[in-house]
Amino acid sequence: MAEKKGKKMMWDGRFDCGMAQSMIDLSFSLDFDKELLEEDIQGSLGHGKGLVESGVLTKADYAKIRKGLLGILDDVHAGKNLWLPTDEDVHMAVERVLTDRIGDLGKKIHTGRSRNDQVSTDFKLYMRHRAAEVRALVVELQKSVLDVAKKNFGKIMPGYTHLQQAQPILFSHYMMSLFFALSRDVKRLDNFLDLHVELPLGSGAIAGSAFPYHRQLVAEELGFERPSANSIDAVSHRDMALEFLNDLAIIANTLSRYAEDFVIWSSSEFGYLTLSDAFSSGSSMMPQKKNPDSMELIRGKSGRMLGNYTAMFTLVKGAPLSYSRDLQEDKQPVFDSTRTVKVLLRVMSEAISSARWNFDKMEDRMLPALLATDLADILVEDGVPFRDAHRIVGSLVGEAAKLGEQFTDLSDEEWAAKGVPNPKDVKKRLTFAYSVSRRNIEGGTGANSVKNQFKKADAILKKESK
Ligand code: ARG
Repeated sequence: MAEKKGKKMMWDGRFDCGMAQSMIDLSFSLDFDKELLEEDIQGSLGHGKGLVESGVLTKADYAKIRKGLLGILDDVHAGKNLWLPTDEDVHMAVERVLTDRIGDLGKKIHTGRSRNDQVSTDFKLYMRHRAAEVRALVVELQKSVLDVAKKNFGKIMPGYTHLQQAQPILFSHYMMSLFFALSRDVKRLDNFLDLHVELPLGSGAIAGSAFPYHRQLVAEELGFERPSANSIDAVSHRDMALEFLNDLAIIANTLSRYAEDFVIWSSSEFGYLTLSDAFSSGSSMMPQKKNPDSMELIRGKSGRMLGNYTAMFTLVKGAPLSYSRDLQEDKQPVFDSTRTVKVLLRVMSEAISSARWNFDKMEDRMLPALLATDLADILVEDGVPFRDAHRIVGSLVGEAAKLGEQFTDLSDEEWAAKGVPNPKDVKKRLTFAYSVSRRNIEGGTGANSVKNQFKKADAILKKESK
């Protein structure tokens, strides 16, 4: 235990002894929360402005504080280490350096503020800023996806359900499915940015500051729309972080599902996709290996991002109101998921833009069974009820399978015996291209439908970049 004289903390007026080393190890957070530096300085600048308004600081005081704070930021950006082992968190560290540099005036910046509303403000600013950056990266990925889809328009591939060949689709149709999923990811971030627009500063520790300042002015200064309506809510709730982590985890999940397909497509069994060497890794032992590690890591890291979301949920669910120190643990999951999702988005975008899509392989692999649904549809058009048509085609496919053949290999007579009228004519119509061309329903894989999807995508991108 530290002796009586070891008092060092800014808040230790009432304490008899300093903090135990183990307690320091447990509680100090500067190591990670220095990530909030820019937002902390921004928040203090806004707060300082409010204090001028209420007469706590003069304009000249504010100018000195402002200069001091911006100097700290510049120095850190220039690579200087300003921090001491005795700095508890980034908020205390900034105030300590400020006071070292400009004297007692530095101690005034915390007037009417608690770290509870300060942290909540910094963290909200941080998430708002990062959400905008992540959003921009999602839009970049959408552009890459649309580009790949447009460039390879017209190419056909097997579409899968249950990882079994299901129906023929256009490759572009597949890619556009990613585009539209991402557009919802963008919308989620927009909703998030629309919702979390209230400034916590002015809430103090729990009950509201006793130094009234123009909270609306500070809110606008910091890019919020308005002050929070309730100080308890403002310092205790972490729903914004929960939502942010959820939105990011969903983005990662979107990417993970495609990454999984691309891992499968890169296998020698499929061979649909050759990732650029730049997004692959080799084996330390097997010289022939080129592994789709980029996609595997996207898949893997999305799991950790779900973990971050779960960690946050577990953290806050029982924390009593208003602030409890548990809430300090809200930062790392957010920092980690933010960093992670950004790199996942960049990699996915660059990897699909630089990949080779092997359309010959895709075509080679297409089995006639992909047309079973089309045959049933044709029978329906000829007046057979769908359930009967399904059974007729099913029995053709089953019989062929017993012989180790494809249902299209069975003779016209066998088709007729099962109830297919004009087998010769029907067989002629039964091509992959024909199958695709029948699906121009809105949202379908037909060429016109896919072109229509391109148009929708162009409009979405335009709206997103407004
Ligand atoms: N580092 C702390 C956090 O991020 C600061 C808040 C401390 N507040 C308090 N009442 N001890 O949560």
